[in-house]
Amino acid sequence: MSEFRHIPVLPLQVAEALAPRPGETYVDCTAGRGGHALTMARAVGPSGTIILNDADAGNLSAAEALVRAEGGGARVVALQGNFASLPRRMEDAGLSADMVLADLGFSSTQIEDAGRGFSFMRSGPLDMRFDVTRGLTAADLVNKASERELVRILREWGEEQASGRIARAILEARSMAPIETTERLAEVIRSVVGRKPGGGDPATKTFQALRIAVNDEIGSLEALLAQISRAAENAAGASKEGRDRAGWLAGGARVCVLSFHSLEDRPVKACFADICRRGLAVDLARGGWTASEQEIAGNPRSRSARLRAVRLGGG
Ligand SMILES: C[S@@+](CC[C@H](N)C(=O)[O-])C[C@H]1O[C@@H](n2cnc3c(N)ncnc32)[C@H](O)[C@@H]1O
Repeated sequence: MSEFRHIPVLPLQVAEALAPRPGETYVDCTAGRGGHALTMARAVGPSGTIILNDADAGNLSAAEALVRAEGGGARVVALQGNFASLPRRMEDAGLSADMVLADLGFSSTQIEDAGRGFSFMRSGPLDMRFDVTRGLTAADLVNKASERELVRILREWGEEQASGRIARAILEARSMAPIETTERLAEVIRSVVGRKPGGGDPATKTFQALRIAVNDEIGSLEALLAQISRAAENAAGASKEGRDRAGWLAGGARVCVLSFHSLEDRPVKACFADICRRGLAVDLARGGWTASEQEIAGNPRSRSARLRAVRLGGG
């Protein structure tokens, strides 16, 4: 088990938007180390249910252990996997939730663990997978993708202006020897992009882009959002499927998504605006909620966080 800690972001605002009641069911799409889930478990009490999901088996088992030990007796169900398939798995198991949270991206425990390869500040294998049992690693991408594909990834998921220069440098470096470590990749990037005065590390955007590509983060988010829209339509009785089958979200379910950059926030904002405009949901956090200066001082990761929240069902 990792020795690192993850401090939950915007915990008070998440609890305010989800407004948990005793006996309700909460599903955590990204259980991480279980910080948010523990608060919800205590609020729903022994007659409530906590469904934990994470692609990362290590994080999931830590969250499960924490909620079982300190959650006040709530029933716990743990499901390992990508949250894109969570709604279907819940429906297959006859589970329906009153509250949902997706706290996107990586946990502090993952970025601080050099062995996971997420950070250019720590030397480790170039992996970056949330689920280490499947899929391509960042090293696979960096060493096998075409120059064109690398440029697309860096531009699309890193919004990196030097994508062409970095892709060419990667191709040149890997023609001599495969790029296997975070340290080597960061070195290759820094050899063609200088540090701007007062700017961050030149490797920042490339590392973000590769992590997003390796884990199909935006594709998974879009799949989850489509399932939230479908549940909103079903709750309003707008589709035949909704009338025939109990969905993964109960009518009146509260849904929160915490994002950390605009690539994540944009589709969330668009999805929530769409279901609110169609009268299928009510906005609970107009404009999105952000962290206070006090929270940022204690937890720098909260600086870029934005919480969006809706309640299914019209106003
Ligand atoms: C920011 S952390 C969650 C922290 C958690 N809320 C807490 O309080 O400890 C994000 C977690 O989401 C997981 N994750 C990211 N994308 C995922 C996806 N598409 N499917 C499942 N888990 C995912 C990561 O493995 C990580 O554990």
